[in-house]
Amino acid sequence: MRQSSLVVVANRLPLDDSAAPDGACEWRRSPGGLASALHAILEQTPATWVGWAGGTGPAPSLPDIGSLRIRPVPLTEPELRGYYEGFANSTLWPLYHDAVEQPVFDRGWWETYQAVNRRFAEAAAEVAEPHAAIWVQDYHLQLVPQLLRELRPDLLIGFFLHVPFPPPELFSQLPRRIELLRGMLGADLVGFQRPQAAHNIAQLATKLLGARVTNDTITVGGRTVRTGSFPVSIDVAEMQQLARRPDVVKQAAQLRTQLGRPRRVLLSVDRLDYTKGIEHRLTAWSELLRDGRVKARDSVFVQVAVPSRERVDSYRILRDRIEGEVGRINGEYGRVGEPAIHYLNQPFDRAELAALYQTADVMVVTPLRDGMNLVAKEYVAARADSSGALVLSEFAGAAAELEEAFLVNPHDVDGLKDTLLRAMEASPADLKRRMTAMRKQLRDHDILAWARAYLTELDHTGRLAEGLPPPPPPRPRPARAVPRQRKVSRRRPSGPVPS
Ligand code: ADP
Ligand code: G6P
Repeated sequence: MRQSSLVVVANRLPLDDSAAPDGACEWRRSPGGLASALHAILEQTPATWVGWAGGTGPAPSLPDIGSLRIRPVPLTEPELRGYYEGFANSTLWPLYHDAVEQPVFDRGWWETYQAVNRRFAEAAAEVAEPHAAIWVQDYHLQLVPQLLRELRPDLLIGFFLHVPFPPPELFSQLPRRIELLRGMLGADLVGFQRPQAAHNIAQLATKLLGARVTNDTITVGGRTVRTGSFPVSIDVAEMQQLARRPDVVKQAAQLRTQLGRPRRVLLSVDRLDYTKGIEHRLTAWSELLRDGRVKARDSVFVQVAVPSRERVDSYRILRDRIEGEVGRINGEYGRVGEPAIHYLNQPFDRAELAALYQTADVMVVTPLRDGMNLVAKEYVAARADSSGALVLSEFAGAAAELEEAFLVNPHDVDGLKDTLLRAMEASPADLKRRMTAMRKQLRDHDILAWARAYLTELDHTGRLAEGLPPPPPPRPRPARAVPRQRKVSRRRPSGPVPS
């Protein structure tokens, strides 16, 4: 068994098996923020990714992806139901997202969650060199840090939660809250998207475990665990390159023509998930059409909703509701050849997504709660000419960084309607100012910066971060015809300012 000095453990591998059009099995990049983010950096890093390849039965044998080795973990059908669809996605996922859907507490799922977490921990221990660093990802694997510490005390263990970590009142509802908390705190460093999450876990550790805490440490059972926030990002260079590719630019123009050359194209791209606020958005759009504030003829809405967790009841029910609503809106407000909403329930490749982002005058990203939301960042990266408007939920982690977006409370349907109109009618100068600021923020905080920040905090030596690919070279600036004049600074006179 080949071993690595860096092992990433995440439920979902960056590849997903799916049926090709001819029925054969083919591997494609998994949709979802975690796989998108990590795939981008690990492809060029000598590391091993331990994860599940989708499906049940024996683990498939998977080729390396660049310098990344893949170690698949198999799941049986009952495990898929109890661990992935059950405890991870029907208990933890809704609870961690503000309980926007009722979490289900099923006692049988817990056993399976424990057993599968043990399997992941054992697989990681097997492929880890002595004193390797293990980076455990997300809510599916919250017990893995502690299990690994018991199996391999020599390892340096990091844990990163991609989803929100809820306030104590919500987390405390979990019947197995103590075990889950102890599981995460088996790590040396527990990372979150937002500082509030680190605050929440510190409060919980004090209350439930009697821990001593500071701003960024939790001491319990004689060990000190560090905590911190590390907002995840995207491969900005990849999206920028895609957006500049001539075939992508051409496809974007074709899409606009196929949409009937409307005055405004609005776009949403989500996994079909109840946290994404798709229904609230459809209500807002339908009311704008009803009230005559927008006309289907000159403004089109494209909703891409990639299928997700399709066997989980709440997702099945949501899909039926959304498709019913899209049908109703199109029935009432569409015309022959002019639907009021274009609805696409299918995966797209990266180039197609980049073309869609370029076509969209207004990108509507309105989750009810989201750890980060990488779609918002992808849109910004794809807007090479700094045009376009981003309407962004206040409840997405990305809102803390993309402050120049049109921020909105997605629960407030009237506010959402007004904000959509504001974004649609904003002046090109206003849009450019906002987009330029967001693009700058994103360039300085790409996925590589995220991984470097986390890994440097994990090992303190910079050794781990050295294994990551180098930052992309800065793009040459166009030569200036006229030498830039030095700015004359107008300093205020020192001393008290007269009132
Ligand atoms: P989440 O992690 O909850 O799915 P994010 O917005 O953070 O939400 O990440 C979604 C990721 O999945 C993005 O990288 C996006 O490009 C990708 N994605 C979303 N929809 C599709 C789709 N229809 N086809 C392929 N990839 C998609
Ligand atoms: C979110 C989660 C990821 C997950 C992704 C897709 O981003 O934080 O852990 O991989 O959604 O969901 P899926 O259930 O398909 O893996």
